[in-house]
Amino acid sequence: MCGIVGYVGDEECASLLVDGLRKLEYRGYDSAGVAVMGKNGLHVVRAKGKLKNLENKLVGEMPQGTIGIGHTRWATHGKPSDENAHPHKYGGVAVVHNGIIENHLELKEELQKAGHKFTSETDTEIFAHLIQNEIEKGLDLPKAVRAALKLVRGTYALAVISEKQPDMLVVSKNASPLVLGIGEGANYVASDVPAILAHTRDVVYLEEGDFAVITKKGIELTGANGQARKAEVRRIDWTPTMAEKNGHKHFMHKEIHEQARALTDTIRGRASVEEGDVFLDGCHLDAKIVQGISKIQIVACGTSWHASLTGKLMIETIAKIPVEVDLASEFRYREPLVDKNTLCIAVSQSGETADTLGSFREAKARGARGLAICNVVGSAIAREADDVLYTHAGPEIGVASTKAFTTQLAAFFLLAVRLGRLRGTLSADVARNHLENLRELPGLVERTLKYEDVIKAAAYKFSGARDLLFLGRGPQYPVALEGALKLKEISYIHAEGYAAGEMKHGPIALIDENMPVMVLAVRDSATEAGVNYEKILGNLQEVKARGGRVIAIHSEGDTMVPKLAEVSIPCPQTNPLLMPILSVIPTQLFSYHVADHRGTDVDQPRNLAKSVTVE
Ligand code: G6P
Repeated sequence: MCGIVGYVGDEECASLLVDGLRKLEYRGYDSAGVAVMGKNGLHVVRAKGKLKNLENKLVGEMPQGTIGIGHTRWATHGKPSDENAHPHKYGGVAVVHNGIIENHLELKEELQKAGHKFTSETDTEIFAHLIQNEIEKGLDLPKAVRAALKLVRGTYALAVISEKQPDMLVVSKNASPLVLGIGEGANYVASDVPAILAHTRDVVYLEEGDFAVITKKGIELTGANGQARKAEVRRIDWTPTMAEKNGHKHFMHKEIHEQARALTDTIRGRASVEEGDVFLDGCHLDAKIVQGISKIQIVACGTSWHASLTGKLMIETIAKIPVEVDLASEFRYREPLVDKNTLCIAVSQSGETADTLGSFREAKARGARGLAICNVVGSAIAREADDVLYTHAGPEIGVASTKAFTTQLAAFFLLAVRLGRLRGTLSADVARNHLENLRELPGLVERTLKYEDVIKAAAYKFSGARDLLFLGRGPQYPVALEGALKLKEISYIHAEGYAAGEMKHGPIALIDENMPVMVLAVRDSATEAGVNYEKILGNLQEVKARGGRVIAIHSEGDTMVPKLAEVSIPCPQTNPLLMPILSVIPTQLFSYHVADHRGTDVDQPRNLAKSVTVE
């Protein structure tokens, strides 16, 4: 939510800041702006809407200077407008901020009484006023920022520059992410690594309460306790091109097609078919710890929550440990029954989602052991976890999550096998079978992607629909939820995912000749049709009998389902617990092509942001 970038060095930085913002646009795109300090002081340029609008404004008005900050906004306080766009400037101070200042109205009132004039409706502007006030009292910039931070209550990632000390960026973080980039003769700050990856791969992730003064020569870092802290520099192995489109029209399309590679990277070095076991670097679970777990509590949001529903099935089936899955936003504010015998798993692509992080902390405070399934190395959730299982999906830029979902499922499968082996509920032979299935998966993903033309034709045929229903049973039920979420996120078609057996209890009333229904009608396994398959055939017929238009995803070679469906999409078959990794792909491609055909902004759908760092 909101992207921040900053630079200090010897180069003209306005276009460098804009390039950085382009990599952060997934975090919000209600407005964008830059503040650059040159010989004549601070120059701020801001524009409502997409970054393109800022770029257009900058033609002929490119600010000159070698220190600057930039921002791309996801509106919380105040509508998207030029005035509410960051950076906010007051006196000689310019500020960009990600987060929410809860007491900004009280502070604003006091300042107004003292004669301050505010020009925006944002909570952020308060910082510019408070800091300028402190500078006028005689404090230097770092001290003035510290004094202002003492007055505010809320969450922030903050970057500040001032005409008074034009050689430094002052930054601080509390609950919103911030990463420093270490260059040669130049240093950087950003909300996320892709923004600075073209310039450096050496980064320092800031911890809660960190405060840093950044000059072109170096970084002075102070921890939450006010003591100087050594910056731990990490080398990022993502390359800049990993965050490019590589010839695809959209990031989402590229990321859908990267799933075989992403799965290979997630599985590599972890699954040993020969030994019938899994080795999880970063997870310190042993037999004693696992025997002592009485319950697993998973917390997650959005697509990660859907992955968690499938994760529950995997763990309960393979490791026989009871699992509860909660939406993180709900978990936080109920009285959860969590204790020291609970393993809490936080699932998050970004590792920064505010509700997931808050729930994880809550569970850990109640004594639970915390395991994170995350994609972003060094993210807040990963840092706070006792055990980390990274999905190696690479940077995911498209706001609608795709490869993060399938790699989360692979991570859950690896974890379930490991827990099963440690708990003694899974024999080495069965584990070998499971891991062999996992090893074959990337090849089957490639095969699934080959049906893209069939899926695209289906998408074009139904792209005018007003509503769409997704039905699934057993492991395919979370896929139905995820399929519906993808479609509504990027095409703005109203879509619902339903457990097919629940259809009779409501949604069947919606079905008529205008209601397309996507049915996840794959077989339960290669050797048997299975109960879920048989039951869903019944549901499919119920839809058809009421005139509904059926789009079916079915197992390759199945002749039954295609006879009942208006459009049928084949999908390879594997282990039923891994089937969601394959069957979700047609739903991703379907949503993608519907949205692209309707001409929506696929990678940056309206009102959404990729990383939701506010509650
Ligand atoms: C946002 C994104 C979703 C994502 C969810 C959870 O809503 O738009 O794609 O699933 O956040 O994000 P996380 O990073 O925690 O997985």
